[in-house]
Amino acid sequence: MTASVPGGRSRFSGMGAEGPAVVARAPAKVNVHLAVGPLRPDGFHELQTVYLAVSLLDTVTVRPGEGLSLTVSGEGSDGAVPADRRNLVWRAAELLARHAGVPADAELTIAKAIPAAAGLAGGSADAAAALVALDALWGTRATRGDLAGLAAELGSDVPFSLLGGVALGAGRGEQLSPVLARRPWHWVLGIAGEGLSTPAVYGELDRLRAAGRLPEGTEPAPTEPVLTALRSGPPAALAAALTNDLQAPALSLRPELRRALRAATDAGAAAALVSGSGPTVAALAEDEEAALRLAAVLAGEGIFRTVRAVQGPVPGARLVG
Ligand code: C5P
Repeated sequence: MTASVPGGRSRFSGMGAEGPAVVARAPAKVNVHLAVGPLRPDGFHELQTVYLAVSLLDTVTVRPGEGLSLTVSGEGSDGAVPADRRNLVWRAAELLARHAGVPADAELTIAKAIPAAAGLAGGSADAAAALVALDALWGTRATRGDLAGLAAELGSDVPFSLLGGVALGAGRGEQLSPVLARRPWHWVLGIAGEGLSTPAVYGELDRLRAAGRLPEGTEPAPTEPVLTALRSGPPAALAAALTNDLQAPALSLRPELRRALRAATDAGAAAALVSGSGPTVAALAEDEEAALRLAAVLAGEGIFRTVRAVQGPVPGARLVG
């Protein structure tokens, strides 16, 4: 899908396509701990989360252009991902240009491997990669701190997409403290055909809590067990420590996810949970071999549209080449 603004050029129409390209990649994330606090007056929920960046990457390519234009290929290019100013990449470009005092001139291309509305922060990854790529294309000399500030304006998960690795997230998720994980963790992502809207899942959590169907006002689950397990393992310890307060509302909106979670543990996963606001199922494997086996079994069951074996932590948004 391609869109351009008046005065801009489509990807195929001008010399911009031959201009020097800058390419950046950014990872998907899984929340290995997600404790959701009360709804704040600004419409966001206070969070305590532990993010893990995993090896499913989107690629953003930027070239000189006149005005902004955007092309999306891969996952979501069938229309699920808007290829116009509603896209977070477009907004990232406008925000960085304003911050740097440069014209917002660029041809933007997103090659998506991370599905949209899947609970994997795909849009946030694209925005983070765009910030890094456009900073280089435009020579804005923004510091990593500047980019993190702009990322937080774009969305709660964008600062983490920039940082990568493992991090504790507070506030609405944008206040990050990096965490060490000494070993790679292997996962299988089971991706459903149809996405879930993040605001709808948070809204369902509020509804379930107000109806007394979930514990309310209790202390959020502590982050210590998951942080300790991430540092030193074994997989069974991490499996026991995984938590996600958005799982119950995601299951409420999408009951068939229960079967998907069960299929993952039946197929040998150490544990399975909903990733972020879902509907992706993240299944923890003992090691890489077990992940590949698990992925093969789950792919054969036909429950998921796509099954991907990934590992993390991996770095955040960065230039390629
Ligand atoms: O920040 P982001 O644009 O990703 O958030 C999307 C929506 O998810 C928000 O508008 C809000 O409804 C919900 N959200 C929330 N609390 C958070 C993060 C997101 O309620 N901490």
